Amino acid sequence: MKQILVTGGTGYIGSHTVVELQKKGYDVVIVDDLSNSEKSVLDRIEKISGKRPHFEELNLVDPIKTNQLFEKYSNLEAIIHFAAFKAVGESVQKPLAYYQNNLVSLINLLNAMRTYDVPNMVFSSSCTVYGQPDNLPVTENAPVQPAESPYGNTKQICEEILRDSAKAYPELNTIALRYFNPVGAHETALIGELPKGVPQNLVPFITQTAVGLRDELSVFGDDYSTVDGSAVRDYIHVVDLAQAHIIAAERLLEKRNEENYEFFNLGTGTGSSVLQVINAFEEANGIPVKYKIVDRREGDVEQIWADTTIANEVLGWKASKGLNEMMSSAWAWEKSIREGDC
Ligand code: WQD
Repeated sequence: MKQILVTGGTGYIGSHTVVELQKKGYDVVIVDDLSNSEKSVLDRIEKISGKRPHFEELNLVDPIKTNQLFEKYSNLEAIIHFAAFKAVGESVQKPLAYYQNNLVSLINLLNAMRTYDVPNMVFSSSCTVYGQPDNLPVTENAPVQPAESPYGNTKQICEEILRDSAKAYPELNTIALRYFNPVGAHETALIGELPKGVPQNLVPFITQTAVGLRDELSVFGDDYSTVDGSAVRDYIHVVDLAQAHIIAAERLLEKRNEENYEFFNLGTGTGSSVLQVINAFEEANGIPVKYKIVDRREGDVEQIWADTTIANEVLGWKASKGLNEMMSSAWAWEKSIREGDC
């Protein structure tokens, strides 16, 4: 049974990926510092997949503890690296914490991979590297634009670290997955996004408004040059995203990668405006969402959605879940949290 290390595995996308890995029979080791997730997620992963992953509470910024992890788990065959701070707004307030956490953890992992002969890494990147693309849909060879935030910059720098490491160390095999906007939750409503405090992202704010936790949603701008004036994004179901990680990891495990640093867009290829998402939520769940239009949010791009041709043709992966299922699963998850299930 192949053993895979999932860093940040009790987090939103990480937990969904662990469920998919265990369904496919992999032996999973989660490492997480629980700074933005809860240990109880392990119970839910076990409930869904019938198996409890190994778990190590650890901050990967510590090189000694990182190496001790690789000493303990000496059969690791691949790493899926999610662990990072990811709040755009917070990164502007705390840039040094973001650079230290997001960059040093990756560097420690890559050093440990070389020391302990673990060649394969799938890395969690983001469409923020594109900024506002000149052409849409955005392809992988679109230029990387200056980041709008320290968070986005850490993703760009991490991609450069992977690119340079792959060039210098041919034994490494790495894939970066550029996520568009992950939303929704597992069909069991046992795992999902657990934002801390006031949600920064659109969909958790919608569901918290619908459940009565928030008075109303603020729509950040309706004066963009888009279909209805509100900003457009490519929303992708978190389970579609999780499944793409398994496919990417197996590409490396089976040595089907053509280069030892590859990167892919993970989106649906369809853009949806904020107002269209609100409408989709109301239609999917029969629940009205109170909202008001306010000024644009600093740092937002106007519109972005993915060209998914390369992921479809090279990875052999295509998103299958539409906006309706994203919204209905997000709502089921929100209700399960409020019913104290979580
Ligand atoms: C989506 C749209 C907002 C909240 C960020 C990161 C990205 C990824 C996903 C980590 C925008 C609008 C939002 C609200 C609103 N994170 N909005 N009212 O900014 O596209 O992407 O999260 O991987 O890296 O950059 O996502 O959900 O914050 O915003 O109108 O209360 O919804 O203006 O147009 P974003 P988001």
